[in-house]
Amino acid sequence: MTKHNVLIIGSGGREHALTWAVSKSPHVDKIFCAPGNAGMDLIASLVALDINNQETVHRFIEENKIKLTIIGPEAPLVEGLADFLRSKNHLVVGPNRAAAQLEGSKIFAKNFMAKHGIPTAPFRTFDDPAKAKEFARSTEGARFLVLKADGLAAGKGVIVASTPDEIVDGIEQMMEKKVFGSAGERILLEEKMNGPEISVLALTDGETVLPFPASQDHKRVFDADKGPNTGGMGAYAPTPFYDDAIRKEVEKNVIQNFLAGLKADGLDYRGIIYFGLMATFQGVRVLEFNVRMGDPETQVVLPLVQSDIFEAFLAVAEGRLKEVQFDLKKDAACTIVLASGGYPGDFKKGFPISGLENANKLKNVVVFHAGTKKIDDGIVTSGGRVLAVTGLGKTLEKAVLQAYQGVKKIEFQNAHYRRDIAARALNNPAIYEKIRA
Ligand code: AMP
Ligand code: GLY
Repeated sequence: MTKHNVLIIGSGGREHALTWAVSKSPHVDKIFCAPGNAGMDLIASLVALDINNQETVHRFIEENKIKLTIIGPEAPLVEGLADFLRSKNHLVVGPNRAAAQLEGSKIFAKNFMAKHGIPTAPFRTFDDPAKAKEFARSTEGARFLVLKADGLAAGKGVIVASTPDEIVDGIEQMMEKKVFGSAGERILLEEKMNGPEISVLALTDGETVLPFPASQDHKRVFDADKGPNTGGMGAYAPTPFYDDAIRKEVEKNVIQNFLAGLKADGLDYRGIIYFGLMATFQGVRVLEFNVRMGDPETQVVLPLVQSDIFEAFLAVAEGRLKEVQFDLKKDAACTIVLASGGYPGDFKKGFPISGLENANKLKNVVVFHAGTKKIDDGIVTSGGRVLAVTGLGKTLEKAVLQAYQGVKKIEFQNAHYRRDIAARALNNPAIYEKIRA
């Protein structure tokens, strides 16, 4: 059997999960991670590549006979790394720069949705703060209580407000004080919607879309969705909020129109598409597209894939996804993020982490590293989100309990985690009393 070398770009929990899943393939020889983290170091070779230097990445690929490059985060995609590597005849998982605008520019994404009939919240775009404020204060504008910076703002460029005053204040921050730099020069105002949020991540080569199990993220830092937004504090899959009726609606209104839109606009899309959805009373609406896997959603969806994920990724890159048999397990998965106390605000780093091996030894538990670093005598914290502990089980309840069993084995100073991941889906408070005890 021919075995291939793989390069994975990124260093978060998502990339550790990608590395872990790809490493299970009998078709994979060496895996290199740039820059990687202490967890990836245990199953792959870390390389200190400057991922912003496309020529350097290209040279590494040539020198190490890399068959496939998987780009984890959005920034290099928006910068055109996939285009550059493809122009050198390399196989890449990740859309080209033009298609990456679906995440890189929220205005581009909304215009794409409007043009191709993908259901989303009504919106207005502005590049003049005075006009934006005038609209926010108008009778019509009173419903438009969501303000979004157009560009990438590390997940912080969205304000969901209760009053037009908050929106006006946000417009001043983004457009006049430029707290997000050029990302806030243009903004969107959107009607505020309500309903459960669902993350549908899928493989696509622009012709075929193969979804992973639908998952749900928990974005706020504290239990009961209190506190500021984070990158994500935990997730589970599959989510019962994605029932058959919603699935059919998404396939028809979102996925089909998305594929038709790519074709009509001539966008080359070979990578992951993440549909951020809200199930409203008026039907499913797309909140956002991401052009990469979610973090921590990846840590629950990849363990639920039965098929060889490397083969599926290779087919994505080669544009022959329709040939792929993509089987999913019938099980459930839940992941709990252990964060540094203080995150998403200021926090201290460098605390030793104990119990990692004991957690990993548990049946149906996998510990994915995010902000971790190896030092001489162990592994220490080195970021806001430190670990994601995934539990698997035949039912969601078993997966949740297993994940928290894993969490209890691990310790580091100032560790913080939510004790209510998947609680809405399980609707069984007794389980969480045990977890809190
Ligand atoms: P986005 O980055 O566009 O997904 O926005 C971040 C978060 O803001 C989403 O996950 C939602 O919780 C919330 N949000 C975004 N748009 C809306 C909307 N139109 N109505 C209500 N909440 C929203
Ligand atoms: N967990 C949300 C995201 O990756 O964007």
